[in-house]
Amino acid sequence: MTTLTVPLADEAATMALGRQLATLVPGGLVLYLHGDLGAGKTTFARAFLGAIGVGERIKSPTYSLVEGYEVDGRPAFHLDLYRIADPGELEWLGLDALAEPGAIVLVEWPERGTGALPAADLVLNLTREGSGRSASWQAHGDRGRRVLDGLSGAVNVPDASSAG
Ligand SMILES: Nc1ncnc2c1ncn2[C@@H]1O[C@H](COP(=O)(O)OP(=O)(O)O)[C@@H](O)[C@H]1O
Ligand SMILES: [Mg+2]
Repeated sequence: MTTLTVPLADEAATMALGRQLATLVPGGLVLYLHGDLGAGKTTFARAFLGAIGVGERIKSPTYSLVEGYEVDGRPAFHLDLYRIADPGELEWLGLDALAEPGAIVLVEWPERGTGALPAADLVLNLTREGSGRSASWQAHGDRGRRVLDGLSGAVNVPDASSAG
């Protein structure tokens, strides 16, 4: 499976989707989070990170650009590149650790870090739909497709659509 669309009626649904993805994460995962300000990217990321076992308070990386965590001895990163004007600004952050095969990496506004980020296994696009949101997933490569296969079985909503 390479694409999947899931309706998210309210914030609780966004958080539930984040927790569902957390149950499916393989050794590592690179997830790009697209969507306007207020689309729900941080809401999703917080629910996901909490569910994989991040015990501390999960801050939005709006000002720090990157927050790092350790989960069962493995690194997890949450980035928000909204304030980046040029990917060159990311050099000093030392983002090499993101490319480790076992790392879990979530990136808000990844389009602002083109060239400085590892390739995505999964891309999530959050858009407004009425008072709720719609989640559109795209998988890239075997690792992403395996996770999306699992997610499509887990979400099981009546009007979820899928292809590929
Ligand atoms: N499915 C949803 N339906 C309606 N509101 C949502 C939904 N998911 C999240 N929200 C709300 O939208 C806002 C999203 O904020 P945030 O997660 O910070 O967005 P972003 O990180 O994309 O800028 C929050 O106020 C949250 O409660
Ligand atoms: Mg955000």
